[in-house]
Amino acid sequence: MLKNVAEEKVASRDLGELYAFLNTKGGAGASTLAVNCALGLAKEFPDQVLLLDLDMQFGVVDDYLNMSSSYSVADAIANVADLDEMSLGAIVTKHKSGLHCLGFNHENSHDNYDKARHLAKLLPVLREFYTYVLVDLSRGIDRLFASVIAPANKVFLVTQQNLAAIRNTSRITKLLSFEFGMGKEQLEVVVNRYEKRQSIKVKDIEETIQSCRVHTIPNDFKIALESTNLGKPFVEHRKKAGISKAVNKLTHTLLPEEEKKKQGWFNRMFS
Ligand SMILES: Nc1ncnc2c1ncn2[C@@H]1O[C@H](COP(=O)(O)OP(=O)(O)OP(=O)(O)O)[C@@H](O)[C@H]1O
Ligand SMILES: [Mg+2]
Repeated sequence: MLKNVAEEKVASRDLGELYAFLNTKGGAGASTLAVNCALGLAKEFPDQVLLLDLDMQFGVVDDYLNMSSSYSVADAIANVADLDEMSLGAIVTKHKSGLHCLGFNHENSHDNYDKARHLAKLLPVLREFYTYVLVDLSRGIDRLFASVIAPANKVFLVTQQNLAAIRNTSRITKLLSFEFGMGKEQLEVVVNRYEKRQSIKVKDIEETIQSCRVHTIPNDFKIALESTNLGKPFVEHRKKAGISKAVNKLTHTLLPEEEKKKQGWFNRMFS
């Protein structure tokens, strides 16, 4: 397995950036963060960002963006040998923000599983056409997705301030290091629904999951729920809210160094 992982890493040089959002417990917020980060990036780089929803059964990206898709990951995989910019452009679903999305058709679970085994072929093609590919990997780690996880520039482990989620985060970081050959610099922890007054502090999490950068996103049930129910991501519709500012700060870390130095980025995000 490690040999395959190494080959995938070498093959992924010079391709678009790949960021995965993995939850460490159901409902931790992987889809919410993937959608809002992708949207923030797409505003800056229209038509250059793809959000890939790999939740085969319960993918929510279409709902969270109030869209409906005609084609799926399975269609892209079935046509992978012939994909060019035009045909790929017809398969993905385009959000008005400039974000492109691709997910599974949730009614074809057998076909999805068969097709997903060939994701390793599709991913480099997607990374040739897009500057950024963000992946919603809500359902924890599945070996089926090793070809997506291992070459990622970063995997964001989305967690919350509870013991089970923190334990899982620690377990997953070990698994990703030992079985997927990932370095600690590829792994970052996002404590979602963060509240300062909770008994588990950021310091405790940093001590448990050593040498991983830790981000926090505040708890804002009202705005998060309204945003997912209406399909209106909060970074676009609730720009001034603390939750949006925190997600934009996280998105900012994904920019290339020269873009990070440009002062206007944050102002544009909130105007
Ligand atoms: N920072 C936050 N504050 C409050 N509620 C949040 C926050 N982030 C997400 N939520 C809410 O938590 C719920 C689960 O979020 P989400 O669907 O993103 O999680 P997930 O990790 O993708 O879950 P799943 O296991 O279903 O894939 C949603 O109702 C969402 O609105
Ligand atoms: Mg999800």
